Amino acid sequence: MATIPAVRTREDTGAIAFSVNGRGVVVSSPPSQRLSRVLREDLGLTGTKVGCDAGDCGACTVLVDGDPVCACLVAAGQVAGREITTVEGLGQSQIGARLQQSFLTHGAAQCGACTPGMLVAATALLEQNQTPSESQVMDAIGGVLCRCTGYRKIVTAILSGQSDALAEIHPEAGNAVGQRVVRLDGKRKVDGSEIFGADEVPMGALAVRAIRSPYHRAQFHFGDLDEFVSAHSGIDAVLTAKDVPGKDCYGVIPPFADQPVFAHTEARYRGEAVAAIVGAPEIVEALDPATFPVVWQELPALMDIDEALAPGARQIHAHREENVLVRGRVVRGDVDRALADAEITAEGEYETGFVEHAYIEPEAGFARRVGDRIEIQACTQSPYMDRSDIATILGIAPEKVRIIPTAVGGGFGSKLDLSVQTFLALAAWHLDKPVRMVYSRTESIISTTKRHPARMRLRAGCTREGKLVALDFAADFNTGAYSSWGPTVSARVPVHASGPYYVPHYRALTRAIHTNLVPAGAFRGFGVPQAAIAQEQLYDDLADRVGMDRLEFRILNALDNNTPTVTGQVMGEGVGIRACFEALKPKWQAARKQAAAFNSNAVGPFRRGVGVAGMWYGCGNTSLSNPSTVQIGLQRNGRIALHQGAVDIGQGSNTIVTQICADALGAPIASFDLISGDTAVTPDCGKTSASRQTFVTGKAAYMAGAQLRNSIIALVKACECARILFEDGHITIEENGNRRKFTLADLPLDQHGYVITAEATFDPPTKPLDKDGQGTPYAVFGFGAHMADIEVDTELGTVRVLKVTAAHDVGRAINPTLVEGQIEGGVAQGLGMALMEEFFPGKGENLHDYLIPTAGDIPPVESILIEDPSPIGPFGAKGIGEQAVIPTAPAILNALHDAVGIRLRKIPATPDRVRAAILASQQGDRRG
Ligand code: FES
Ligand code: FES
Repeated sequence: MATIPAVRTREDTGAIAFSVNGRGVVVSSPPSQRLSRVLREDLGLTGTKVGCDAGDCGACTVLVDGDPVCACLVAAGQVAGREITTVEGLGQSQIGARLQQSFLTHGAAQCGACTPGMLVAATALLEQNQTPSESQVMDAIGGVLCRCTGYRKIVTAILSGQSDALAEIHPEAGNAVGQRVVRLDGKRKVDGSEIFGADEVPMGALAVRAIRSPYHRAQFHFGDLDEFVSAHSGIDAVLTAKDVPGKDCYGVIPPFADQPVFAHTEARYRGEAVAAIVGAPEIVEALDPATFPVVWQELPALMDIDEALAPGARQIHAHREENVLVRGRVVRGDVDRALADAEITAEGEYETGFVEHAYIEPEAGFARRVGDRIEIQACTQSPYMDRSDIATILGIAPEKVRIIPTAVGGGFGSKLDLSVQTFLALAAWHLDKPVRMVYSRTESIISTTKRHPARMRLRAGCTREGKLVALDFAADFNTGAYSSWGPTVSARVPVHASGPYYVPHYRALTRAIHTNLVPAGAFRGFGVPQAAIAQEQLYDDLADRVGMDRLEFRILNALDNNTPTVTGQVMGEGVGIRACFEALKPKWQAARKQAAAFNSNAVGPFRRGVGVAGMWYGCGNTSLSNPSTVQIGLQRNGRIALHQGAVDIGQGSNTIVTQICADALGAPIASFDLISGDTAVTPDCGKTSASRQTFVTGKAAYMAGAQLRNSIIALVKACECARILFEDGHITIEENGNRRKFTLADLPLDQHGYVITAEATFDPPTKPLDKDGQGTPYAVFGFGAHMADIEVDTELGTVRVLKVTAAHDVGRAINPTLVEGQIEGGVAQGLGMALMEEFFPGKGENLHDYLIPTAGDIPPVESILIEDPSPIGPFGAKGIGEQAVIPTAPAILNALHDAVGIRLRKIPATPDRVRAAILASQQGDRRG
């Protein structure tokens, strides 16, 4: 990034003249104001995103006189007389316009929050060098973080950004499934017009700012809040727990709801809100929170699982004995006897830490009261769940709450829980004025959910031939101060901790334990990635003891269509795990040979290793109903309105659901008008989590599409084989060589305002689990296996991943580009989890200290798509969102063991831990 030299500005007038996207502007602003803020708030150029306000994420990258800079680090006064280019202006140049198209064609934008920064940084490179090398591209975007894509498609898009072959695919009617259709919401993401949580604000909106506990546990009392309000001109109100008119208790799983909007007398974690200030934005933002009248008394806190479980430990919630939120259990066969009789056994203990979601878009939104109703526009993964909890908090009916999801700049599970919505609702409700709230990066990190830290102990046994006979697994998950998704993690992990293998004797016991730390919640996989780290390393140990190739061990034990899972479920069809392992086999054998050859010739500190790991993951809720409803309507203009409430958080559900519906109906995608995720106009498609939208909402869309086709056929009295052409203002029926045209304009409209409406609901068929966890928890599982080639610097302890090969059984790849995007993004998050990501509450609450992978950390990813169709999923499709992250970390950790013979018990494998383990193993060898 270039450095902008300071220039003298006219502080006295505050008028700063410069040019933006070729247009001269004059802004009245303090010269020290951040350029990012001036662009967004004064000039309405919200394409420039703010992810950190600290120079760490690069989302705010703009060009100043052609050089890329972080607009959050540039003062407005520094750009007087200069030319600024933002994402909105990129299309004015051929290079920028082609690059935008290349991002679309290659699927380089997922959530889109990083996309403006990426495009701007890449444009600066291509303006200088239209045929850059890959390493030059990596350097150019090295300062821009992306949490979704894994960077590979971005690099590809930039490398081919000036090619002439950037055409989009427009499949014919009935031929959309399986095609690399460009994401339907993609254009808004590359031209900067997408609306995220912080990008829209009603005129005159007040700002909301939370006051949060600086201590892990503290009692507090307020001073004179009325006095505080009257002493500060521009502050309209201070809200506290007393201002919650309904039930001050919410949570994503209603039976476990336990979180208040504001702590009442004691804050249970650092970052918990105790009050909110509402007032004029410039006053609220400038306020020093230290002047807020609250007195804290820090109290001893339970900082880890051991402290929380210690005999006599104080209970964080009075009704939860021993600080155990919930227990999970799956038991099958006689594990103790099987382990006692096993010819070969192995055991291990593994620990993982908090992982921060680090999406590029911090939480944001606005709210307004409309009579006796409330409307909230915010980034969320779960509009209907939000609606229900906000109604409870306000003490009004759910129908009086409208949730309008914005584009979501990454969620990965954390935006399933409420954040800004509670404060916005209360402020708008009480003041009857529009209000806006935007979390800072630090606020986002300290107050929103994390991946559960896990402590896992396990023991497994097999025969001398390598056949698994038993696994005994126990895990405690640190669920923090409130329940959030702790019950789901506790329930899901025991079902999955066997991995995708036949294990006849099995016991998995889990507990979610409360501590005085930030709540842990949903993060891509609901605890299964942590369990896979343990189980897949243990299986490597078993294979080694048997003296068997580690991949062959997995192939030998892989589930098939007719073997029962650890819950006794026999799937009958669609179990593609063996095919995933088999697909890796030739690459595994070649990579093992290459690594061995490298190591036998190694003279320096570098050693190479290859690791493999398998994965399975049930799509949708565990043994619970989780329906989606989709409605479509034939309009008089011949177009199809698709109402689907699934929130696209970057994974591509807007596009995939439309592809499925289009083929079920037999209409081209271009005929669809998409209406997404607004509780006032779309039916409930459940939450975007648990890899359920392609499967569940996709199936509902399939059913609705087929139903509409049948209704049209019935209306025009055509045969079932007829082809329907959707044209401007009419439909044409082709059958038996004849064409009949039906004008739609004169047909009556139904109560939904359509000529014909079809609506379908799909709820995956599952069965409750019994007391031993036996039953049918999921209708469909996705399967996969990853192989990692790595290189270890044994002197520095650093690990470089050279390549990841990822085979996934997705049933049917509805859109291969989007599936690959999920896999590559999952690999990047898995790599981060394995090697660098660990959040310590109270430390490093920013994107400078909390490291996520950058473009330079991500190796080439080869995706192998296996299509073993699900008998239930739409066109055979299964989920891929969470599946993609699970096997990467264990594959890397197994490769680490392969390279240097160490097993780290505490993850991530940071250089200090790796180096210490290498030294310890060398000393052991010497003693040995
Ligand atoms: S917002 Fe400027 S670098 Fe993150
Ligand atoms: S697409 Fe890069 S952060 Fe989401």
